[in-house]
Amino acid sequence: MNLKQMAGIEAAKYVKDQMIVGLGTGSTAKYMVDEIGRRVKEENLSIVGVTTSKETERQAKALGIPLKSIDEVPYVDLTIDGADEISADFQGIKGGGAALLFEKIVATYSKKNIWIVDESKLVDKLGKFPLPVEVVPYGSQQLMRLFEEKDFAPSLRQTADGQTLVTDGGHYIIDLHLEEITDPHALGAYLDDLVGVVEHGLFLNIVSTVIVGGTDGPRTIQAVQ
Ligand code: A5P
Repeated sequence: MNLKQMAGIEAAKYVKDQMIVGLGTGSTAKYMVDEIGRRVKEENLSIVGVTTSKETERQAKALGIPLKSIDEVPYVDLTIDGADEISADFQGIKGGGAALLFEKIVATYSKKNIWIVDESKLVDKLGKFPLPVEVVPYGSQQLMRLFEEKDFAPSLRQTADGQTLVTDGGHYIIDLHLEEITDPHALGAYLDDLVGVVEHGLFLNIVSTVIVGGTDGPRTIQAVQ
């Protein structure tokens, strides 16, 4: 079993009957969704899933997991999702898979969020992983210019075949190559204020539980409350 799979399977144990469960996106979340699908089929687990991307929706549907949209549920009991970087104080960068907007919406309306990662995602400070910023296409070149001026080393995300990537929400993604983010809250507030920015990949004060797949087995770490 690989480390991502280990974390995904461990996290699926937190899912209980009758829960409304937010289903994250990415290669780690995929294992968790597979495991929930297995439990639905083999253990008669009864849940409703709320997906965070078209990709996860396709996977969950194929597995026979009953689904509702975020607008059809009063709240989400638990969301399990991957992350690109998690700092020692449980702040994160997400959006490497371009699903950050729907992921943040589902996380916001979740009573509890758990992130699942392999050991490589744990860092002292955020920023080595490029910070994704989801932007409206109209005016996106102006934002590129602004980010250049700020020395944020922006790049407009492309698909594998060289087209500008369009997110599930119909937006573009500008990745900021910052190397180190000294004050994530200040940067998040700055980005929140920019016209044309829909959302950014700084997920701050969202999780208190992280499940890490490691060579010695899965490890669950909790933030000190
Ligand atoms: C999707 O946009 C992301 O937020 C993913 O959750 C994140 O990139 C982690 O992905 P992997 O599990 O594939 O590394």
